[in-house]
Amino acid sequence: MKKLLILGANSYLGYWIADAFSGSSTVKPIIVGRKKSEKLARFEQYECLDFQSSRLKEFFSQARPDFIINCVGVSEASQEKQMMRWNAEFPQEVVALTKKVGVQPERIIFLGSAAEYGVPTRLPVREDDTLHPLTAYGNSKSALASFVKQTAAAGAPVTLARVFNPVGPGLSSRFPVGNFIEQIKKLKSGDTLHCGDLSVVRDFIDVRDVAAAIQTLLFSSSQEAVFNVCSGESVSLQLCLDELIKMSGKSFKVEEDAALKKTLVRTIYGSADRLKALGWKPRYSLSQTLRYALTY
Ligand SMILES: NC(=O)c1ccc[n+]([C@@H]2O[C@H](COP(=O)([O-])OP(=O)(O)OC[C@H]3O[C@@H](n4cnc5c(N)ncnc54)[C@H](OP(=O)(O)O)[C@@H]3O)[C@@H](O)[C@H]2O)c1
Repeated sequence: MKKLLILGANSYLGYWIADAFSGSSTVKPIIVGRKKSEKLARFEQYECLDFQSSRLKEFFSQARPDFIINCVGVSEASQEKQMMRWNAEFPQEVVALTKKVGVQPERIIFLGSAAEYGVPTRLPVREDDTLHPLTAYGNSKSALASFVKQTAAAGAPVTLARVFNPVGPGLSSRFPVGNFIEQIKKLKSGDTLHCGDLSVVRDFIDVRDVAAAIQTLLFSSSQEAVFNVCSGESVSLQLCLDELIKMSGKSFKVEEDAALKKTLVRTIYGSADRLKALGWKPRYSLSQTLRYALTY
């Protein structure tokens, strides 16, 4: 049985990535978080206060993982000052620690973001397109991308999964679709639902398809360092909202709120060709994904 260390599995994506290995007869997930997760109680779990390097070093040398997936990261604007630390420096520490303790994982996966691209120069956006991040978050993830590319070029088995807009149960209401779902669940027919700019176009991907993509990357021997993890479909927030309302069976007055209209990037969707060439393809349609997220 191969050992997979998942750092930060308390995270939204971490849960679904760990869940994808439930019942695996070949890979055993070992979870490391700042605190234990009740939802992941079925897996071996360890607490690691603030992911201190001395503790991580112990985990690495004791567990001697065959694979590592890092889900630790900071994306909330209120934590802007922490972004470089956790999104770019911490991954470097992880790689350095494996070297220090003499562990040679078959693959280490880091999670990047579509925010690295900023306003795309062409659509669909591809992995080698120039990055023009517009936010502190995008900057920190593009610093991570540079590190991953350099490290991979030097021969290390590191991969950046550049995740677009995952949707699924538990999606934070910080994200528009998560926010629509939260409001739809709380409101009754006739109430007013508040939203931002509904003409914004994004590339939504089922969180279970993200987890499957990460599995594909984990076992791949591709020489590429960066992969878009996206559906390749361009979908407006208007369409998501309309579908969700229809599925709920309720009716609402929808009010676009000027205060929520702060989007820097109006349209972005990616090419999933590089990932598809490894055999991955999305299993869920947008409707299936939205229904799952709404009714879970
Ligand atoms: N969700 C998305 O839409 C999305 C899209 C693209 C890329 N990503 C990337 O995927 C990764 C996981 O995202 P997510 O949304 O699933 O994350 P999340 O739910 O916000 O969880 C973040 C993880 O990082 C840890 N963490 C947060 N702040 C920390 C701090 N100050 N010190 C130490 N640890 C800290 C959290 O630990 P605790 O649980 O203990 O707080 C948790 O394990 C991140 O790198 C994110 O940037 C996410």
